[in-house]
Amino acid sequence: MPKIIVAIDGYSSCGKSTTAKLVAKQLNYPYIDTGAMYRAVTLYFIQNHVSLTNPRETEIALNNIHISFRRHAELGRNDTYLNGANVEDEIRKMYISEKVSDVSAIAAVRHALVAQQQRMGRTKGIVMDGRDIGTVVFPQAELKIFMTADPLIRAQRRQHELMEKGELIGIEEIAENLKMRDFIDTTRAESPLRQAADAVYVDNSMMTLDEQVELVVRLADEQIGLLLRKKAGRA
Ligand code: DC
Repeated sequence: MPKIIVAIDGYSSCGKSTTAKLVAKQLNYPYIDTGAMYRAVTLYFIQNHVSLTNPRETEIALNNIHISFRRHAELGRNDTYLNGANVEDEIRKMYISEKVSDVSAIAAVRHALVAQQQRMGRTKGIVMDGRDIGTVVFPQAELKIFMTADPLIRAQRRQHELMEKGELIGIEEIAENLKMRDFIDTTRAESPLRQAADAVYVDNSMMTLDEQVELVVRLADEQIGLLLRKKAGRA
């Protein structure tokens, strides 16, 4: 069976990761949460007081950062590891969300992470979500999705997610953080968030999770079918 790359980009808290995870499960592909990688770098920078404006410091720090993903058998999820330590819960906290867009706007950070992401997708058969996957990391991806949802719905989803992890944050603070991250993510000089010309636009405000997953899996199956027919010389 030919393998494809599924690239899912979009705004913060629009359900990309939840959808991507389930799509990956159905396709039997690994799932890579690139936002988690930017969050892990942010955690390292905070813990080690790395200056965001000193390129030499940033470079040294990046050379000392190793990010990996490992299966958490008990919880049935993929956890993010920073230099061997499980940081999955820490990187989801609000203090990381407040800094992550500034850290991910640094060119050297992006170059290091994009190179690692491209290595992860070398043999295809992967679902990756983020902000620049269809535009920069895998511009040749067979399936690109650009996902969005109404800002208030996104804030409510994020609040619910944080609440489940024991962080009680007001809806205004969350909405403000999302607005700020959208602004930084879409206006930064280095690979800003934008829809690739050949991406499928999905506004999931009124969709259930099942409907989103079904849609993306159907589109992925179409692409796999196309490759199969090409291989057989019929397309
Ligand atoms: O998907 P997320 O909210 O966990 O991502 C956290 C931040 O990381 C987001 O505000 C922008 C940045 N990011 C990025 O710049 N490029 C990516 N491919 C993924 C995330």
